[in-house]
Amino acid sequence: MKNTALITGASSGIGKEFARIHASKGGDLILVARRIELLNRLKEELIEKYKVAVQVIQKDLSVVGSSQELYDEVTQNGWQVDYLFNNAGFGGKGAFLERNLDNDVEMVRLNVMALLKLTHLFGKDMKARGKGKILQTASTAGFLPGPYQNTYFATKAFVVSHTKGLAHELKGTGVSVTALCPGPVATEFAKVAGFGSSKMFEGASSAVKTAQKGYRAMEQGKVICISEFKFALLIKALMPFLPQKMTASIIAKMQQS
Ligand SMILES: NC(=O)c1ccc[n+]([C@@H]2O[C@H](COP(=O)([O-])OP(=O)(O)OC[C@H]3O[C@@H](n4cnc5c(N)ncnc54)[C@H](OP(=O)(O)O)[C@@H]3O)[C@@H](O)[C@H]2O)c1
Repeated sequence: MKNTALITGASSGIGKEFARIHASKGGDLILVARRIELLNRLKEELIEKYKVAVQVIQKDLSVVGSSQELYDEVTQNGWQVDYLFNNAGFGGKGAFLERNLDNDVEMVRLNVMALLKLTHLFGKDMKARGKGKILQTASTAGFLPGPYQNTYFATKAFVVSHTKGLAHELKGTGVSVTALCPGPVATEFAKVAGFGSSKMFEGASSAVKTAQKGYRAMEQGKVICISEFKFALLIKALMPFLPQKMTASIIAKMQQS
């Protein structure tokens, strides 16, 4: 049977690749982001290539009430969401006290509040049906202190923690939740976050590979997917033995490179 996936942040990067993977498996799609022209272009591509049904919804998910509006639009149209990809997100470079707080609040609204609300709304429906999959795009940042990208790291720590707890609560319901935790990925993220040509993104992974790993982990019902082996090793085997101050210094240097 066809599964319909709702993907936030589908206009570029990892979200766009999730859409391509899902369509390649014959699944229908609801694509969400602010840049409607990019969503429409992707819609045309996917319909032509895979003959799937694609809906596009223009929505700024950092606006209070927007997640509820999105849910209402989807349900009023009678569309069922089988897979939810909470993927939209952005970061922002700089010392916390020097940053424009409005930008950080917007980040929390998108990276945390929209994710929380959409998971709550669509997750309830999935649980009632006894079937569904949720993928939350977190980050390796979710396991680390984040000097000079502090709020972003904190939002991703929220996503990791929320996913781990929710996965336990959902045991036996037929619904799974997975946190995809990539390291640097070559998308529009670095530019939006103010990193320009930072060394941190040299050798970054591709959006295609990252999305493939996340999609597979979601299909397998994994709770945490650190999409690159070297980061999994670092976070699971090395970081627990490093003093917190040292970890923070390493991260600070990386953010400023
Ligand atoms: N790239 C990395 O290094 C990296 C590493 C770890 C985790 N991640 C996470 O991966 C996810 C996807 O990011 P990406 O790397 O693919 O970056 P990206 O290319 O910048 O994609 C971000 C997506 O989020 C959407 N978005 C941003 N603000 C939005 C808003 N207010 N309302 C609705 N949609 C919004 C963007 O679409 P519009 O601009 O059209 O709205 C875009 O489709 C994010 O959660 C990010 O934190 C990225």
